[in-house]
Amino acid sequence: MTLPPDLEDVPARVRALGLALGNPLVFHPETASTNDLAKEAGKSGAPHGTTFVADAQTHGRGRQGRAWTAAPGEALLVSVLFRTPCPLARLPLLSLAAGLAARDAVALALGDDPRALVKWPNDVWVRGANGEGPRKIAGVLVESTLVGGRVESLVVGVGINVVTSDFPDELHARATSLALEGARSVCRGDLLVALLEGLERDVLRTAVHGLAPLHERLARACALTGKRLDTGELSGTCEGIDAEGRLLLRGDDGVLARLVSGEVHVGAVPR
Ligand code: BTN
Repeated sequence: MTLPPDLEDVPARVRALGLALGNPLVFHPETASTNDLAKEAGKSGAPHGTTFVADAQTHGRGRQGRAWTAAPGEALLVSVLFRTPCPLARLPLLSLAAGLAARDAVALALGDDPRALVKWPNDVWVRGANGEGPRKIAGVLVESTLVGGRVESLVVGVGINVVTSDFPDELHARATSLALEGARSVCRGDLLVALLEGLERDVLRTAVHGLAPLHERLARACALTGKRLDTGELSGTCEGIDAEGRLLLRGDDGVLARLVSGEVHVGAVPR
């Protein structure tokens, strides 16, 4: 499928930067889910770096079985196929690395805006300009295919709200977009190139070295540090992210818990 005008120069830019990701770049006006396309491509032997972008998804998926919805043409919907050796224990760290790369692409589009933050484990939030609560601007879904107990391929799916100005009622107070946050450039091509650069740098480095090389950046970008959190079982105050990517939660009993996965809510869990 030919690329739309705003993505036309991406293959040349990716080549000029020497990136493996984004090559080939496959565009669909509409598909069920770009993650599904990338997973299928992985099974059919597509090369490392194959990247799928769609204008619209009919069955976009988020983490924890949730749906991911975006009006046609209003978000960057992208999935990248990785074929990179990675010990199983490091898989969860790749999600954090992808979230950090997505955060950096969002921050760049907003003019290096430090209000762009990672909401552990891998959402991207933008803090309100006037001290308002943060809103979600992007999400990451990493899915792996294992063969014989080893990682055969990995799909990193990222959805970034680009020009969305109107969200469904239930998301209104919690979601935002680059346009709503005042981005000067809302070109999907620019955003995609920045994202691919970040994913190539951060995901591959984490697969090889673990999280240590990224830890300082991740800790600085953590949206939850200092916030009151609730997991449903535990409530307390977040003390950041440790070098193994665990969320540090100082319980009200004074005990430090290190969360490896799951969902945390700022304030009390809605019950
Ligand atoms: C989340 O916030 O829970 C993760 C959302 C991930 C959405 C992206 S959009 C492109 C790719 N295709 C999908 O079906 N999901 C990811």
